Order: sequence, then structure tokens, then C-alpha cells
Amino acid sequence: MEQKYVIKGGNPLVGEVVIGGAKNAALPVLAAAIMTDGCCHIDNMPNVRDINVLLQAMEGIGAGINRVNENEVVITGKGMEADGIVDNEYIRKIRASYYLIGALLGKFRKAQVVLPGGCAIGARPIDQHIKGFEALGANVVIENGMIKAEAERLIGTHIYMDVVSVGATINIMMAASRAEGNTVIENAAKEPHVVDVANFLNCMGADIRGAGTDVIRINGKESFGNCEYSIIPDQIEAGTFMTAAAVTKGDITVKNVIPKHLEAITAKLVEIGAEVQEFDDAVRVVATKRLKPTQIKTLPYPGFPTDMQPQMAITLALSEGISVITESIFENRFRYVDELTRMGAKIQVEGNTALITGVEKYTGAEVSAPDLRAGAALVIAGLAAEGITQVDSIGYIHRGYEKFSEKLRELGGQIQLVETEKELQKFILQVG
Ligand code: UD1
Repeated sequence: MEQKYVIKGGNPLVGEVVIGGAKNAALPVLAAAIMTDGCCHIDNMPNVRDINVLLQAMEGIGAGINRVNENEVVITGKGMEADGIVDNEYIRKIRASYYLIGALLGKFRKAQVVLPGGCAIGARPIDQHIKGFEALGANVVIENGMIKAEAERLIGTHIYMDVVSVGATINIMMAASRAEGNTVIENAAKEPHVVDVANFLNCMGADIRGAGTDVIRINGKESFGNCEYSIIPDQIEAGTFMTAAAVTKGDITVKNVIPKHLEAITAKLVEIGAEVQEFDDAVRVVATKRLKPTQIKTLPYPGFPTDMQPQMAITLALSEGISVITESIFENRFRYVDELTRMGAKIQVEGNTALITGVEKYTGAEVSAPDLRAGAALVIAGLAAEGITQVDSIGYIHRGYEKFSEKLRELGGQIQLVETEKELQKFILQVG
């Protein structure tokens, strides 16, 4: 039997949860670390599958990877081969492999990386990344499933991004940080992880200003040195637990967060009737009554994050009235709707809009995680549902959530990872 989560819903989730480092910041930070000629000590690294796959690929091209513990790593960039090819069966499945293009191109003027995979939430082109590398003077070709980028010289330039892209902004920023002269990126993504990567590059010796605004200015440097860095907390993991409190009518204090990064999520939860208290590095979400409906449109930061769309949908599907969610970043991000429907939700999808008619309760069902965030959302729905829910394809969830079921159990959730029919039946007997 494939691994799955089995859940007995109905308990309000109550207590404290500590949030780990941001996966989507850690991936580019780790990839950027190969640009050092010294060593980088990085902590608050989430110990999740995508991170481990990336570290393994970095080791494959000669970077020194010393795992101090689960959440701390020392990366050495000395002695790497300039001709390293990034490819193995695991790296093909993750999105963030593309950050090694910017890093290798910046450091060696040459990169060969397998085309990125990742969650199937839409077309996910990389034209803006390529446009940026070419503007810096690289020649980029796609051949046999590989991206090959090469440049005799990388020369700073002015780049206007046609779409606001987190990945392209970070990738171009990495390559440009080692180019000759000045680069200006306009219409840049403003996500907290863009700022985190800029801070990390600056810590290694780069000169980047303006990250977090839509114009980023980069003064290229010849080499990078040692650095000690701590990755920012994961805004999406935090948001997921915030909605867990709202959906289960619980009371969760989400610790080790930057409340400012959660503002879009906090605002929506308050609007629908949850109580949110902000502290210096924590937020507490309390929900005591049935929530109200609302309208949400996903947008680049500081708008409502697309990575929180499924978790908000499962929250709104239990509210009192009709909600509308418009997904404006990825075109295929409602694949969880069929699964949630099996649990009793009433959702109609038309193009990039979901019309959600709130129901009073979910009932347990056998469902399948269609991608990372939707998988986490279905687990939370299961915790709110009457009866037993089984969620399979949970490999997706492990790509981005560390100790997910353990953290939920500590909050009083009845959830177990099972690998055999016997374990499954044992859990069902235990929870009665
Ligand atoms: C990253 C996150 C992902 C999140 C997304 C938006 C990682 C590993 N993944 O994905 O979890 O959902 O940001 O916050 O960090 N686009 C183009 N051309 C390009 C690049 C992007 O048209 O060259 C489009 C995409 O199709 C999408 C939009 O721009 O519609 C935003 O994508 P982008 O911000 O690049 O997302 P990712 O970096 O792939």
C-alpha cells in the first residue's frame, strides 16, 4: 500500500505550533550558496523533500554539503567543476532546479540543468528567466530536455519583466550579482523570499538594493565569500496552520513567524469572522462560530498568495453563504475541487473562478492530494470532517511540509501516517 494519511476529524485544533524555514526561500538560497568561493553556514532550513533533492544535486556538481543537523547545513563552493551537469531522476521532478542555472551561469558563465518539473498547477513557462539571461549576454538553448546557458561575459543591463515572476526575478538577480557592471530589474516580484535571497547574496558579498520593491538594482561583484545566514519563516506553512484553526473552530498560536508576511491571510481570516492576534513573532487564530463568506483573488505579493488558495477554499466551503475565489496566477489550481466535493463541499469551477456555496460540514472520504498545497488543504479538511478521511499521494505534502502530521497531532488532531492495511485498520479501531 502506498503511504497515506488517515484522519479522524472533529477535534478543534488547539495549542502552539512552531513554523520552520520557508521552502521557497531556502531553495534559491541553497542554490545561490554554490556561488561562494568560501563557505556558507545556513540555518532554519526546512528538512523537506524538495530541499534534500536540491542538496543532493548540488553535491553531484561538486559543492561541499555538510549537514550539521536536520535544519542546518554548511555549503562550500570551492573546487567545484565548471562543467557540472545537473540531472538525476529526482531533480527532474522539482521546480527549483532552475535556480542552479542562475547560480552556475553567474559563477562559471556556464550552466547545464535539466528542465524543471514541479507541481502540475499550470503551464509554468520559463521564458522570463531565459529573457533575463539573454539580456545579460548569455546564449540559451533547450536541447534534449536540458537548458544550456553559456556566456563569454555577463554584462549588467536593464531588464523589464513582462510578468511578475518570483522564480525569474530571483534567477536573474543571482546571475546579475556576478555580472560586470549594473543591472536593473523592473517589474520585479516583491515576495518576502525575493528579499531573503537578496539578503543572502549580500551576505556573501553581493551589492543588491531594492529587493521587496518592483525595481531591483544590482552592482555585479567578482567573487563571493563566507556567510552565516538564517532563512525566514515559512509564510505558507504558517498560513496553513492559521486556516487549520479557522476550519476546526480551534485556537492555534503559530510561532516563529513574521506577522507582516501574513497580512493578506490575516486580513481575510478577520474579514470572515476569525479572531487574529498579532505578537512580535507569533499570531494566534481563534474561531468559535461559523465563518462568513468572502471573495478572494490571488495576486503577487503583497496580494493574496496563490499558495494559500486551496487552504482558504476549504475554509470558505464551510462558511455561511457564497464565496468566490479567482485564481489569477496559475490556470490549473482547482484540481482539489473534485476531491473536496467527495467530502460534501459544493464548489463550481468556471475557468479561473470557483463559486463556493458553504455547507455545514464535511464528511470523511477517500481523497487524493493533487499537489503540495491542495494536499495540505485536504488534510485540514479531513481534520474538520465528520468521520474518517484517507488522503493518498501524500508524497506531494512531504515536498513542502516538515513533520506535518506530528505538528497536527500536537494540536490535538487525530492523524496517522500509515503504510499498510493493518496500520490503517488499527488506527480506525483506536479512534473508534
Ligand atoms: C513560485 C513558487 C510557487 C508559487 C509561485 C507564485 C517556488 C519553488 N515556487 O513558483 O510555490 O506558487 O512562485 O507565488 O518558489 N511565468 C511566465 N514566465 C516565466 C515565469 C513565470 O509566464 O518565465 C508566469 C507563470 O506561469 C505564472 C506567473 O508567471 O502564471 C508566476 O509564476 P512565478 O512567480 O514564476 O512562480 P514560480 O517561481 O514557478
